[in-house]
Amino acid sequence: MATIPVNKLTALEQTLTQPSPLELFTPDWPGAEDVTIFVKRDDKIHPVVSGNKWRKLKQFIYEYAEQHLDGAELEEELPQNAEGGSLYAESSFNAEGSLYAEGSSFTAKGSVRLISFGGGFSNHLYALGYVCHTLGIPLTAIIRGDYSATPTPMISDLISWNVDIEYVDRITYKKRDSAEYLNSLKERFSPAIIIPEGGSQEQAIGGVAELVYEIAEALAANHNTEFDTIVAPAASGATMAGIVSALRPNQHAIGIGVLKGQDYLESLVNQFLPADLLTKEILTKKLMPKEFAAKAPANNDEERKTNSNWHINHEYHCGGYAKAPPYLKAFCEHFNDAMPFNIEPVYSGKVFFALKDMLKKGTFKSGSKIIVLHTGGLQGAR
Ligand SMILES: Cc1ncc(COP(=O)(O)O)c(C=O)c1O
Repeated sequence: MATIPVNKLTALEQTLTQPSPLELFTPDWPGAEDVTIFVKRDDKIHPVVSGNKWRKLKQFIYEYAEQHLDGAELEEELPQNAEGGSLYAESSFNAEGSLYAEGSSFTAKGSVRLISFGGGFSNHLYALGYVCHTLGIPLTAIIRGDYSATPTPMISDLISWNVDIEYVDRITYKKRDSAEYLNSLKERFSPAIIIPEGGSQEQAIGGVAELVYEIAEALAANHNTEFDTIVAPAASGATMAGIVSALRPNQHAIGIGVLKGQDYLESLVNQFLPADLLTKEILTKKLMPKEFAAKAPANNDEERKTNSNWHINHEYHCGGYAKAPPYLKAFCEHFNDAMPFNIEPVYSGKVFFALKDMLKKGTFKSGSKIIVLHTGGLQGAR
């Protein structure tokens, strides 16, 4: 079989839809006629590494590759199909996007293990598991609850990607941010690096910021305009923080709290916005394309930290994290029947439910240009 040398990381990037599409959204909802709404379709980035997942992981994975995989490890001979085309570049998924074509996976080579956390339906573990499998990085997934007898579809995928799974009870899982517990894990799996739950860490911020620059470019090029407000879900706060870090002073971000977290969610966002984080330096790290770097905002951190251009709306958690009361389920079902793309009840469902209600209440100024970020997560509803 003929082979071609390909950098694994570059090959993975080639399978991602970047920039993700920015689509006009015209629901016949009361109030929608007074504004212009675009949906940033990050759910289309990749069938597995979708939504905010690659955004959050990108910088970390590049740093990992640079430090822990040498050039030889990153170069891989990729199998070709009968016509001589790369199997990898072709779509390797089934209709649900959950299968990886036989013959195109890599053998594990990275020696420094990653350890991360999530529930049985975690979008983060799903994406990270796939990335690690593709790049040959060993991964241990610490999962809340014992699903050994009844693995969820997400866990079955992790198993098929050779992810090492450790089920822990709720009390142990609660220690996921405790230094003592994390050190014990690092010792046990040494050498190992911990990625916090949801992939929410400092390196996530610059990757998320990129989506704001993508939107700005698309609006300028295709609509000769800028946006006023961006609406996105908020759970661990890193996505919001990344967005806030890239806003212009006249733009505003509304986070839709998907869990009961008045003040708590604000503090999570703020923890990712320390003064030294929002500098040109962090936003222009080598991953940031030059054209975006040039537009990185100046360091006006104090202004950002005072919530001057962002806030969290706590009216739409619908009872708490992953709670889906009948009215929310009905909204999602109707939406999925009527609209050109799908949502699920944990993240995007609450965001579009909130959008509809906010439009009705006249939350947005007439003539506003609103962006709704679709952060994916549809696999969680399998
Ligand atoms: C699909 C999806 N959307 C939104 C979020 C919320 O993002 P964040 O945790 O960065 O607030 C998550 C969780 O990470 C998610 O999985």
